[in-house]
Amino acid sequence: MGLFGSKEVIGLDIGSSSVKMAHIRAAGAENRLRKFGVFPLPTDSIVDGAIMDHASVVDGIKAAMRELKVHEKDVAVSLSGHSVIIKKVQLATTTAEELEESIQWEVEQYIPFDIKDVKIDFQVIGPLKDDPSKMDVLLVAAKTDLINDYISVVKDAGLVPRVVDIDSLAAGNAFELTNPVSDEQVPMVVNVGASFMNINILHAGVPLFTRDVPMGGGMYTSEIQKQLAVSYETAEEYKTGRKDPGERGTKLTEIMKVVSNLLATEAQRSYNFFSATYPDRLVTKVYLTGGAAKSSFLKEILAEKIGVGVEIFDPFQGLTVDEKTVDPAVVSQFNTSATVSIGLALRNLEARG
Ligand SMILES: Nc1ncnc2c1ncn2[C@@H]1O[C@H](COP(=O)(O)OP(=O)(O)OP(=O)(O)O)[C@@H](O)[C@H]1O
Ligand SMILES: [Mg+2]
Repeated sequence: MGLFGSKEVIGLDIGSSSVKMAHIRAAGAENRLRKFGVFPLPTDSIVDGAIMDHASVVDGIKAAMRELKVHEKDVAVSLSGHSVIIKKVQLATTTAEELEESIQWEVEQYIPFDIKDVKIDFQVIGPLKDDPSKMDVLLVAAKTDLINDYISVVKDAGLVPRVVDIDSLAAGNAFELTNPVSDEQVPMVVNVGASFMNINILHAGVPLFTRDVPMGGGMYTSEIQKQLAVSYETAEEYKTGRKDPGERGTKLTEIMKVVSNLLATEAQRSYNFFSATYPDRLVTKVYLTGGAAKSSFLKEILAEKIGVGVEIFDPFQGLTVDEKTVDPAVVSQFNTSATVSIGLALRNLEARG
């Protein structure tokens, strides 16, 4: 899949609500954001992480390139959902080259799909401290069909897919590269999109735990639509505070609390599972990001449930925004939505060291 390492790439996050495109270039010590934009997709273009409407997604990508005047062709895209597996496994110590040959046989037992239907990538983390004959390896597997669907929309939009990444890893990457933390810290990055909540608990550059929960900001919208009998557009406007709900305000507040509680409960479940698996590694802080990170009450309820500080993560804060080519209004409206696309766009800088 070519997940780890590539040459310069455009970050292309194909989310279920919109396509996000980002281009970052290293300029001396700073990372300069040269291009960024968000381009909505029709409802149900992407369902459960799978592309349902090929033509609409191709159009969305083309619109992004046209409007942002992006001429570069090489892109990094990412996948999420049930067809993706990320696991840290322990294998007998060997070289990466040797492992390349044997990975299929070594990891078959860890993958809940037929090994013939998946593509596998891995990263050697290093030998175990107490038993150097074994090493930790980060294993990433995704269904070949899903990968091919994403590759095909990218190609049909006239671009070249150089990297196929995973949403939760890209979000973790954006966090680490724009907001460096010490090795004592164990950040939990929670990226809440429209359909998925991608969780990534990291330590010293290595994802210790990742999970995609099939819940997101779309849940607020559909509850508002149902309970207040309004259109999708009106529900989105109420939810994001762009329209005054008037006498429906009390009901709206109640819905926002109920759904925030559901999302926070799922995040807490992941946190509890992680804490039980790694009793010596406590999460030090939760970094909430993704478009739906701004949902009313979510941050507060999450902090209450998990019992550690929750901060909103804005990936633009670690970048220099080129105001000649990037619209500041787009940056402030879509700062948290940008996280995955920024993580993808930063894959190139990493590879160049
Ligand atoms: N200010 C806001 N307050 C609350 N929700 C918001 C706000 N701005 C955007 N959202 C919601 O964020 C979601 C979109 O976020 P994002 O762009 O991260 O998702 P996506 O990448 O398209 O979806 P996914 O990755 O889940 O398929 C939508 O549900 C949108 O309504
Ligand atoms: Mg997303």
